[in-house]
Amino acid sequence: MKTILVANPKGGAGKTTLSTNLAGDLAQRGENVFLWDLDRQKSALHWLSIRPASLPRIHRLDSAKEKPTDGVLVLDSPAGLHGGKLGDMLKLVDKVIVPIVPSMFDLAATRAFLDELLEEKAIRKGRAFVAIVGMRVDARTRAAEKLDEFLAPIELPVLTHLRATQNYVNAAFEGKSIFDLAPSDVAQDVAQWQPINAWLLK
Ligand SMILES: Nc1ncnc2c1ncn2[C@@H]1O[C@H](COP(=O)(O)OP(=O)(O)OP(=O)(O)O)[C@@H](O)[C@H]1O
Ligand SMILES: [Mg+2]
Repeated sequence: MKTILVANPKGGAGKTTLSTNLAGDLAQRGENVFLWDLDRQKSALHWLSIRPASLPRIHRLDSAKEKPTDGVLVLDSPAGLHGGKLGDMLKLVDKVIVPIVPSMFDLAATRAFLDELLEEKAIRKGRAFVAIVGMRVDARTRAAEKLDEFLAPIELPVLTHLRATQNYVNAAFEGKSIFDLAPSDVAQDVAQWQPINAWLLK
């Protein structure tokens, strides 16, 4: 089983949006997908509970003990995940995706987390790999420029920037990912996801 952790201790960085859409994307691609919500707020589980049965199935997972041998597991993590708990989670995962919003407060908070992540044994020993996704990034804004400046010296791949759009918000209200919406409405967003998929296949 391939396991992907979506993490950033900063609240509202886009973890649940990224996790649920990643699960939706993989399910649409015919993968056997599991979603494990580590957050007590259970936003991802709530999303899963209202997901229409007609859409590609995403299975719910509640503990590492149930971890199947086959398929892809997406882990949505809570704000504040770091330290020992982060270390424990990293033992279970192959890949970590860190969503980052380009605001001064988010960048400052994320820097400390990236430093901590790079010190973790699983990452240092190459057992788990980290990549970054810019969230709610609108090209040609000062914020996008600042994000690029912030990420330039960090030796981690920046997979893509996902724009701010109500497509994510509206899809979530219906238990859907953007990949479950009409392709003509989300073409730009789906295109922005391509590098994420390519990295996961590596
Ligand atoms: N690309 C986007 N376009 C528009 N809105 C977005 C986008 N990404 C995230 N959002 C919105 O930003 C808010 C925060 O996103 P989300 O809940 O995914 O963050 P989170 O990191 O899971 O938060 P928490 O730390 O509370 O778990 C939500 O209202 C979500 O709908
Ligand atoms: Mg969340």
